[in-house]
Formats: sequence, C-alpha cells, structure tokens
Amino acid sequence: MALPQVVIQPHAAKRVRHHDGWIFRDEIVRAPEGLPAGELVEAVTDRGGFAATCAFNPASHIPLRVFTTTSGDTIDRAWLARRLARAVAKRARITGTDAKRLVFSEADGLPGLIADQYGTALVIQIRTAGMERLRDLMVDLLHEQLQPSGILERSDKEFRQEEGLAPTAGVLRGAVPERILIREEPWQFWVDPHHGLKTGFYLDQRLTRQKLRQAVEPNHRVLDTFSYTGSMGIAAATRGARVVCVEQQEPFVELAKENAKLNGVADRMEFVAGNAFYWLDAQAKGPSRYDWVVLDPPALAKSKAATQQGRRALHHLLVQGLRALAPEGRMLLSVCTYHLLRDLEEIVRIAAGDDDVRLTVCDQWTQASDHPWILQLPATRYLASWLLERDAPSAA
Ligand SMILES: C[S@@+](CC[C@H](N)C(=O)[O-])C[C@H]1O[C@@H](n2cnc3c(N)ncnc32)[C@H](O)[C@@H]1O
Repeated sequence: MALPQVVIQPHAAKRVRHHDGWIFRDEIVRAPEGLPAGELVEAVTDRGGFAATCAFNPASHIPLRVFTTTSGDTIDRAWLARRLARAVAKRARITGTDAKRLVFSEADGLPGLIADQYGTALVIQIRTAGMERLRDLMVDLLHEQLQPSGILERSDKEFRQEEGLAPTAGVLRGAVPERILIREEPWQFWVDPHHGLKTGFYLDQRLTRQKLRQAVEPNHRVLDTFSYTGSMGIAAATRGARVVCVEQQEPFVELAKENAKLNGVADRMEFVAGNAFYWLDAQAKGPSRYDWVVLDPPALAKSKAATQQGRRALHHLLVQGLRALAPEGRMLLSVCTYHLLRDLEEIVRIAAGDDDVRLTVCDQWTQASDHPWILQLPATRYLASWLLERDAPSAA
C-alpha cells in the first residue's frame, strides 16, 4: 500500500541521502492534514523524487525520522527483524561483559528505540511517536531474537514530552528483578534497572572505567564527584587508590557501597551523600589535595537556550576541581551536555586560565562503541571525556 507523502526541501533530501537521519520542521514544504503521530510516510521533493521512508510526528521539532533511504523498502516485520539482528550482531565483538547497549536508536537505523542488555534481562526505552506505533512488534522481535528472562520498559523520562507521549515504565515480558548483577571485567556491579538513571547503569562509560584503571597508580588519592553507583571510583580503587565518592542521591550512595564491597575495595573507599558543587568548593578552599579529580556531572544544559547557564556551571566545576588537585595531579572530565561539546576546549582553557594552571591534554575519547558515533548524525556523539594533567608550577 502506498504511503502518504510529505514534501520536503531539496537540501533536506540531499542531506538525508547523505545519511543524515532527521528532517526539521522548517524543511517541510507540505504534509497531508490529519496524519496520526508516528505514521510511516514517504519524504519526497516537490519534483516527486523519493528521499526516504520516515516516521512522521507533526508535534515534534524533528517531525521526520528516517528509517530507510532505499526506495521500495517496506518497513514491516521482516525488515525490522533484519535491522535488529544487524544491531545485535555488531555488539558481538564487545567481550568481557554481559551488559551492553544492543540498539542505539538512529545509530542502528531504528529511530526512537534503545535496548540495553543487563545479564539475561533487557531494558528498553521508546523515545518517539514513530517507535511507539511499532512498540509491540519490536518487543516481540526482541523476545524472539534474544530470549531474555524479562523485558523492562523505562520510557519514564522527559524526552517523551516533546513527542507528545506520556511517560511510562513497567515490565513488558517475563520478570525483571529489583537488582541485577552484571559483569564488566574485571568488575561486577549491582544495577537497579527499575529506579536507576538511564536504563540503570552508565554503559557508555565502559571505556572511561578502563582508561581510569590503567592511569591511576596505587596509593593515589582520588576524588570521584557525581559518582552515582560508584563505578569510576571502584575502577580507581581496584588499582589500589584511595577514593572519596560524592553523590547527591542517597539510594545511589547505598548501591555504590554495596558495589565497593562486591569488588573487594570497600576499605579504600569513602562515600559522601551530598552536593558535589559544595563539596568541591570546600575541597578547593581546604588543605586536602588530590592526585585525581573525576568530574562527571549530569547534563548541565538541557536545551540550547540553557547553554550559557551550563557553561557557567561547568566553568565553576573545572576551576574548583583544578584547585583541589595536587601539582601534577590529573583530572578526568566527562561531559554529556551536548550543547557544550562544541565549545569544550574553550571552556577548559578559560577555566585553566582563571586558575593560572597549564594543562596537558593526555587523552580524549567519546562514549563506548556500543553507542556508535555516526559521523552524519551529529547527536550520536554526545559524550566527551578528557584526561588532563596539571603541570607542576616549575614547568610553566
Ligand atoms: C553522569 S552521572 C555520573 C555517572 C557515574 N560517574 C558513573 O559512571 O556511574 C551524574 C550523577 O550526578 C548525580 N548528581 C546530580 N547533581 C548532583 C550534585 N549537585 N551533587 C552530587 N551529585 C549530583 C546524579 O544523581 C548522578 O548520579
């Protein structure tokens, strides 16, 4: 059956043919009236040229999300099954863990779907109206292809508002326990999939944990701010470092303590339930100096409009973090605020200047490879991690 057609600007058609996945509101020339949110449509140019098959949501500021640019593809069960199988197969090369992202939305050609594996269970998020209409089909396919012990939905975040969807969460298939034990060699972690942030664990920081473990030395003093369930602090403590973790939410601090015990490093870790901004301010003024400061704050600007505010917050954290460092101390900075990434170098340079500190950039990386960064989909690169070293004063 022919799909309804939405006419788009020629430049948008060209971009999409070059693998971009989004068509914005001001790039739509004409759309049929009354199409329900999430309907599959053909995006075409005024001359009738086919550009892509997309899910359409007139309420969203990204009304068209591309499923395929191959004319003649039908987005049916078999097509979706192939896309899913391809996404899962790509993750087979990630070894040493039973916790990974299996589907990363547009990056895997399944816009709006997140599927994370935690041991034998799956935790999913449905982020768009287009994927909401395919929900039952996708849950069936996930069940069929992966045979999980349970599937939990965690679509309870604010991102659905923009798509006109209500938040929702709950077990869709089988059973999903309150806590799941995952393996990420050489560690194990307890994850709370029902109440944890994201789908329960920062799977995207797998590489960061490994880098930290390699760089930290025994007896280093590490301050892990915004520590959530302790994974970065634990990565440092397993190398013999002494770690202070600061996290605002008490339930996460409790889980972090259990994770420290689980990994045999509880005697080297201290946990503070409190505001990391205030804690860093106090450390910067006080006598303690750390060999490492880990800064992994939450998103500091949720929209472009809030960028300036986010910039000020990050600047403050950097200045105080640098002050809390010993000479030649190191900072691990992770920024997940998309709107700050472009200016990150400048923000760090200004903060270092305010502290009169010369910094060496020892390493830089992005999110772990099961959250693929697709060059033509800029939003798929959403995390920047930097390893910085403070030069000794005499080196300046
Ligand atoms: C990006 S996550 C950190 C993830 C963690 N590093 C990991 O790898 O598991 C940010 C954390 O900061 C916490 N948080 C948010 N605001 C905070 C504040 N003002 N002080 C301390 N923690 C805060 C959140 O509860 C969340 O756990």
